[in-house]
Amino acid sequence: MEAVEALLSRVSSPRLTGSVPASLLADMVQAAQRAPDHAQLAPYRFLAITAEGRSAFGELMVAARLAAAPDTDSATLDKLRLKPLRAPMIIVGIASPTAHPKVPEIEQLLTAGIALQNMSSMAWAKGFGAIWRTGDLAYNQHLQAGLGLADHEQITGFLYLGEIEGRLKTPSQSSPVELLAHWP
Ligand SMILES: Cc1cc2nc3c(=O)[nH]c(=O)nc-3n(C[C@H](O)[C@H](O)[C@H](O)COP(=O)(O)O)c2cc1C
Repeated sequence: MEAVEALLSRVSSPRLTGSVPASLLADMVQAAQRAPDHAQLAPYRFLAITAEGRSAFGELMVAARLAAAPDTDSATLDKLRLKPLRAPMIIVGIASPTAHPKVPEIEQLLTAGIALQNMSSMAWAKGFGAIWRTGDLAYNQHLQAGLGLADHEQITGFLYLGEIEGRLKTPSQSSPVELLAHWP
């Protein structure tokens, strides 16, 4: 897809199926590395969860939910367990900020967020779908530890990824005038 068209047309793809080619994943990682990055700290990393890994991730989500709320009912847990099966692949975006005299943590978190969005944009431009999800478990320490995050790391998002199934919504377009002011 042409770059301008890709930028202006991207929408999230809630229903995903099929598979994700290794070549797409490689392009996505390259796109992530094009995020603006003060002092070139590369304050991000990613995990790809596929196949049976998704079920293991579902079990981890259940364990994390129980750690936070031990009396969660079994129907809720069963629903949670199946969530990772909604796509053939989940990319876990991880922000890995480091102490730097000129680059505060907020800048590094922004870089990590942009890197994940660049991955999503690359997928879209190549004809694949994605949706960025989080939920409270993204901030759950049990889940973070289960995914191997270090204490200083944070989850930026779970990018569900795959071939697009069904119709997508038309992107909403507010007037640029409403969003952009000129100063002074
Ligand atoms: C940091 C972040 C976290 C998000 N978490 C969720 C989420 O947990 N569940 C969800 O349905 N959408 C979530 N979204 C929003 C969707 O990814 C999506 O952007 C939104 O539904 C609007 O759709 P669009 O991307 O097609 O405009 C999140 C977006 C961001 C940037």
